Amino acid sequence: MTRRPSLPTLALLLLAGGCTPPGKPAPPGPSRPADVTDFRTLFAANCVGCHGADGPLGPGPPLNDPLFLRIVPDAELLQVITNGRPGTPMPAFDHTKGGPLTTQQVKIIAAGLKPAWGKPGTSGDPPGYALAPGDAARGAAVFARACAGCHGDRGQGGGSVDGRPVGAVNDPAFLALCSDQVLRRYVITGRPDLGMPDYAGKAGRPADFRPLDARDVADLTALLASWRQPPAAK
Ligand code: HEC
Ligand code: HEC
Repeated sequence: MTRRPSLPTLALLLLAGGCTPPGKPAPPGPSRPADVTDFRTLFAANCVGCHGADGPLGPGPPLNDPLFLRIVPDAELLQVITNGRPGTPMPAFDHTKGGPLTTQQVKIIAAGLKPAWGKPGTSGDPPGYALAPGDAARGAAVFARACAGCHGDRGQGGGSVDGRPVGAVNDPAFLALCSDQVLRRYVITGRPDLGMPDYAGKAGRPADFRPLDARDVADLTALLASWRQPPAAK
């Protein structure tokens, strides 16, 4: 699959870059996209379209989630922004990988996420970010307790949050665009912006629910991955 920056990315880049019409004096401030070195400006121009500004909305997972920022290694932030996530809509941003940004700009964004939205010192002992092999059959038993109240017994949807119906998570078209990594991340962080609890939250779960441990998270990730349609033969 070839990948290139999405249209929203390009449109935002052009807006932020501010093309100077010929014959006019350059406006104050950076005149070329490559000169921009401010985290917020770079984030607004390149990431907001998919990841949301200071919140959700978009096909990408929220990056301002403190639990996500607590568990994700710095090296992974740099790696994924540099290279993208092949097979998902997350594009490469480093110019050496065909992306629109300089290596320096990629570093500024990767290093800026935790200072902008992280909350150091939060308690709890969340499972780690790194993928681990899991057992989908055991994951189905965990799903019945931890997820089915909102997503239905086979992930088909059916529950509700604040009167709003909760959608399916077993949709092969949705899962085909998600890496195992992001599925694991959702199991740990939930979507607090949309009413899905994190690994320890009790919403939609039995009263005696205990926080998901590392094995539960690995097994749930394996279950979600098993609901993907096998890719069509090429
Ligand atoms: C065209 C849409 C799009 C754009 C633009 C985009 N992303 Fe993403 N990004 C995604 C999607 C979708 C994912 C989830 C990929 C997966 O399945 O793992 C993702 C994943 C990520 C992840 C990993 C999150 C996790 O939970 O593991 C990081 C970090 C990230 N993006 C940072 C950025 C940054 C920073 C920018 C701007 C420089 C950006 N993205 C621009 C769509 C986008
Ligand atoms: C309190 C209800 C609730 C519970 C419990 C819950 N979810 Fe969710 N989940 C949601 C809502 C709401 C969304 C947002 C999408 C929607 O409204 O359908 C969501 C979204 C998701 C997504 C897609 C993320 C996205 O951005 O589209 C995945 C994957 C997911 N849930 C998996 C799980 C798994 C696995 C469990 C059990 C560990 C679980 N959920 C438990 C309510 C819940």
